[in-house]
Amino acid sequence: MRPKDLVPPKVVYLASTNVHKYLEAREITARYGLSLTFLREDVPELQHDDVAEIAKEGAIWAAEKWDLPVLVEDTGLFIEALKGFPGPYASYVLKTVGLKGILRLLEGVEGRRAYFRTALAFCDGKGSEPVVFTGEAHGHISHEPRGTGGFGYDPIFVPEGGDGRTFAEMTRSEKNALSHRAKAFRAFCEWFRAYRGL
Ligand code: IMP
Repeated sequence: MRPKDLVPPKVVYLASTNVHKYLEAREITARYGLSLTFLREDVPELQHDDVAEIAKEGAIWAAEKWDLPVLVEDTGLFIEALKGFPGPYASYVLKTVGLKGILRLLEGVEGRRAYFRTALAFCDGKGSEPVVFTGEAHGHISHEPRGTGGFGYDPIFVPEGGDGRTFAEMTRSEKNALSHRAKAFRAFCEWFRAYRGL
């Protein structure tokens, strides 16, 4: 018997090292009656300008390794005034120049529109074709970091549809009402329930 055949139908794994992503996603999957398990795994990231390709390759890799129903997500931040920078390289840019570096690049810039794009790829064990779901959150980059919640770029991202607070000033469920990740996970949950016949 394969590992994936031992997994109850409502259970799915998220391969990631980022527990914040897991905690956000778990709130969504729970609403659909699904159980998300954190599979702590440093999934190799393909160098690519499309987050969907990065997530797909990651999901194939994790499914090959674990033979479980597994999700891998990849998120990019695209800043219009910087022609889409840092895009899929958001992680590297945060580690190097950080939020301060991004704010410095935007000094004196009035048009601060930006969006997050998440791609979430699902593979049902070894040899299965990945299925990809996406979600975007549009908004703008603030003039200074605000808030202590969330992670990554949350202190400088003000989503549209909110009240002017950054994601880092919101509770997890407030962020989930507006976020790129929540949209991708909702799309996945709807699909997965039908896929499993739940
Ligand atoms: P990755 O998907 O883990 O590669 O994320 C790329 C970069 O974007 C990392 O530096 C993350 O911290 C950041 N990031 C991913 N998702 C979010 C989010 O929901 N809010 C703020 N930053 C994020």
